[in-house]
Formats: sequence, structure tokens, C-alpha cells
Amino acid sequence: MHSDRASTRDPEPTADPATGTTTGVESAEQLAEALAATGYLADDGLAMVGYLALRMNRPLLLEGEPGTGKTALGEALAEALRVPMIRLQCYEGIDASQALYDWDFPRQILHLRAVEAARSLVEEIDVEEVERSLFDERFLLARPVLEALRASPAVLLVDEIDRADDEFEAFLLEVLSTYQVTIPEFGTVRAATPPIVVLTSNRTREVHDALKRRCLYHWIEHPGLAREVRIVRSRLPEVSARLAEQVAAAVHRMRDTVDLLKPPGVSETLDWARALHELGKWELDVGTAAATLGSVLKYREDAERVRDSLDRLLGS
Ligand SMILES: Nc1ncnc2c1ncn2[C@@H]1O[C@H](COP(=O)(O)OP(=O)(O)OP(=O)(O)O)[C@@H](O)[C@H]1O
Ligand SMILES: [Mg+2]
Repeated sequence: MHSDRASTRDPEPTADPATGTTTGVESAEQLAEALAATGYLADDGLAMVGYLALRMNRPLLLEGEPGTGKTALGEALAEALRVPMIRLQCYEGIDASQALYDWDFPRQILHLRAVEAARSLVEEIDVEEVERSLFDERFLLARPVLEALRASPAVLLVDEIDRADDEFEAFLLEVLSTYQVTIPEFGTVRAATPPIVVLTSNRTREVHDALKRRCLYHWIEHPGLAREVRIVRSRLPEVSARLAEQVAAAVHRMRDTVDLLKPPGVSETLDWARALHELGKWELDVGTAAATLGSVLKYREDAERVRDSLDRLLGS
């Protein structure tokens, strides 16, 4: 089964629908290379667990500090495997109808009106038939989980699962155990190939053991200095090598030596490098660093602490 809503990318998948395995990726190193080709630089641990998740057909649960590339991994994986990515953004109060499917009520009403109008022309109306016609495919609104089951091979990114509540987690666990859903009025939809599932969490609460058991797990650390420089170079090739190195080094010193309410993630490193580049800078100096701190620190207390020790943080 295929959904036209799902695919926005090159439709040629590298996942093999017949076996459910992902072909073309034969090792963790190969996966790292394929991800790097999309601009995503995974460390060895992430490449290994990602590769195993593909081989074993298991969901991958990623936790880590904000801005460490959890969401981006899902996007990069889809791009690397050339399959569509379908994203389910979780939030407080999300329920199955927002994740799975809904009926297009306004269109169903319009349909009923049309049937009513036609009544003057037709002698007898079969009420059951009219009722059945209301639950036709064309009135079914596929939400991300259903969309992913239909579009698979695909990546289903369940982003920020920790924001959803327990019941939603239980619902998800059921879907991830069977890769099928039953819609009472419609029937059962089963994925021909299980989708590649990436779940992310910022650990605002613990994900339950039952769901964890189903998944392979990886905690994404902030990248080491050399890799962060490479990430800046890969995401922002227009930024000078010297600026990329200075920005990454300064961010590392902030994380390691200043007691911050919110240590900057990779996104902030990228924002800072971009801001400096926009100002026409090829190098980082204390004055410009002080003037652009708002792109890297988002708490007043953090900015004050860093501003006091900028000389040291810039290594000058
Ligand atoms: N290893 C990496 N390689 C390339 N880009 C990366 C990497 N890690 C992070 N990034 C970039 O950093 C930015 C932040 O990443 P992302 O949004 O995926 O973080 P996150 O962990 O999902 O954060 P949050 O918890 O706030 O949602 C993105 O622009 C992403 O492309
Ligand atoms: Mg994210």
C-alpha cells in the first residue's frame, strides 16, 4: 500500500520491501559514510547502534542534551536510505487520533448532504449503504503513524516522546510491536515492510521500560571538539575554517568550564558561527563575541557569566 501524501523525496528506496531488511548498508562504517554524505556526522557509537537497529528491525531510542542531533539523525537516515521521512511530533495530551487517523468530518457531512439532495431523484435509499460510504478511504485522514505504515519503507520519526503521556506511550508500544493498526470501520492496515523507527527524548521524564525494551538505545553526547568543527564545516561550508575552529573551541570551553543553566548544543554552535559569518567575520574577537552572545546563550545569567570570562574562553 502506498500513500501519496507521504513522499516528498526521491522515491527510490534502498530498503528491500521483500525481506524488510535494509540493503546497501553493510556495516556501521558504511552507515556513517552514508550519513556523512547528507551532512550528518555520527560518532562510532551512534553509527553502530543505528546500523544494528536497521539490521535487527528495531526502533532506535535516542536521548541526549538539547541540540545534539537527535532529530537530525532521523532526517539524515531517511535521506541516506532514500526513503520518505514521516514525523510525529509528540506533545502533552497527544492521543491516538492525532497520531493514527481521523475521519474528515466536514467532508462526510457534505457527502451526506449530497446524498440527501439526490434523494429526490432516487426512489429508495439504502441507509446502511450510505453509512458504509461515510467510512470510505477518501474520508480517512491518515496521521503520521498510519502514513508511515502505508508508505514504508520509510523512516518514522517519533520526536520528543517524553512530552507525551503514559497512555500514548502504551499505544505506541502496541503499534511498534505489530506494525499494524485496526480501524474498526475500515479494516486492518499492515506495513508491508516495518518502518525504520527513530524515537527521541529530552528525558524530561523517563520513558517506560516496556517501550525501552522494544528499542535499541543510545545517549548522544555533545560532540568532541574535532567533530564539532567538522559539523560546522559540513553544515556551513561558507564559514572560514579558522572561525569554525574558534567558535567550536569557545563553545567547548563554555560547556566544560562555566557553570551554565543551559549549556549550548550543536545548534547554538552553528547559530553562532552563522551569525559571525553574516557580520563578515573570518575570526572571532572578544568584542564581536560579546555582541553576538545572544545566538549561543539564551539565559541572562549564562550570558553574564560568560561575558566576564570571554578573554579566557577565546583563548586570548
Ligand atoms: N552529528 C551532527 N552532524 C551534523 N549536524 C548536526 C549533528 N548534530 C547536530 N547537528 C545539527 O545541529 C542542529 C540541532 O540538531 P537537532 O535539532 O537534531 O538536535 P536535537 O537533539 O533534536 O535537539 P532538541 O532536543 O532541542 O530537539 C541541527 O541543525 C543539526 O543538523
Ligand atoms: Mg529534536
